[in-house]
Amino acid sequence: MKILSIETSFDETAASVIEDGSKILSNKISSSQDIHTKTGGAIPESAAREQLKYIIQIIGQSLSHSGDPHTFLTDKIDSIAVTYGPGLIGSLLVGVETAKALSLLYKKPLIPVNHLLGHVYANWLNKEINNYPEFPLLALIISGGHTDLIYMKDHNSLERIGGTRDDAAGEAFDKTARIIGLPYPGGPSISKQANIYFDKNQKLDLFPRPMVNEKNFDWSFSGLKTSVYYYVKKNENLDVAFISAQVQEAIIDSLLIKSIRAIKKFQPKSFLLGGGVSSNTRLRNKFQDEIDSKSLRCRLHVPDPIFCTDNAAAIGACAYFQNKPKSYKDINANPDLEIGL
Ligand code: KG4
Ligand code: ZN
Repeated sequence: MKILSIETSFDETAASVIEDGSKILSNKISSSQDIHTKTGGAIPESAAREQLKYIIQIIGQSLSHSGDPHTFLTDKIDSIAVTYGPGLIGSLLVGVETAKALSLLYKKPLIPVNHLLGHVYANWLNKEINNYPEFPLLALIISGGHTDLIYMKDHNSLERIGGTRDDAAGEAFDKTARIIGLPYPGGPSISKQANIYFDKNQKLDLFPRPMVNEKNFDWSFSGLKTSVYYYVKKNENLDVAFISAQVQEAIIDSLLIKSIRAIKKFQPKSFLLGGGVSSNTRLRNKFQDEIDSKSLRCRLHVPDPIFCTDNAAAIGACAYFQNKPKSYKDINANPDLEIGL
């Protein structure tokens, strides 16, 4: 089964053709991130304008991998999938309305996909069936706008068991990077600096790990930016690499401590990471080391780094495995969409 998938929830315009939920036949993406690096963050109006400019071109390119895009869509595509939330309303509308038009014109079923679940399903991409994540599973979605821990018994049974009470993990990277004077997006900037610092003998416990002693699976990251702000104010000769390593470690440790506790409680067969922050190498390594050292019978799955950040291939994977087409009349862009089925 071949799905054409479209993703425009934030500052990317992306389209992909996916076969049987895992095999990527094409994956095209255009990002307005360069514009947002200049302004220090995404401006919704300019993100949507860029997406309107590129959406048809990107879909066309993704359908052209084996010849004429019109013929391919007519003869080979079984369904169309589109992200309908959460995200920026203007950006979501570009993808959703384009997908509706194509679905009507080409008479293809339309599958609405929750962007957050796309981050989970990135773990099925480019995998052989015997390497698929196994259920029951826990998935930690760590992106620029969200931090959610979810428990899945199977593809169609899902429960949110925790998440952030304020800033998302990626937001914590982005906001602290700004305070330190590093460019947007903050995650890659901070992790690059942290790699320069690397000093095994130095303790990386300058900043607090809030809520780790509470018996829930929630996080709070908003205090971190305040701590960093006062540290920067007090210290004139700032060692950017040192502070980056400290910020990165505080975020990773907070996520790790509660995730390990959740693994012990829920005993999942697989633990999945997804979202932009999960491309962080130190985070991936620390999760693997901790699971190994505690001999937890749970396999860690991390997407290929290029599928951690927003992309359309993961939206196609989610559409395939959950396979819930709807009438175009019932599909509306929803910027505040939450986790649920
Ligand atoms: O999933 P994503 O591409 O977009 C959203 O759905 O939000 O995630 C973007 C977030 C940004 O906050 C960015 O700073 C963070 O992911 N990020 C990273 C890394 N690469 C991207 N955070 C930490 N380390 C990284 N290497
Ligand atoms: Zn995302």
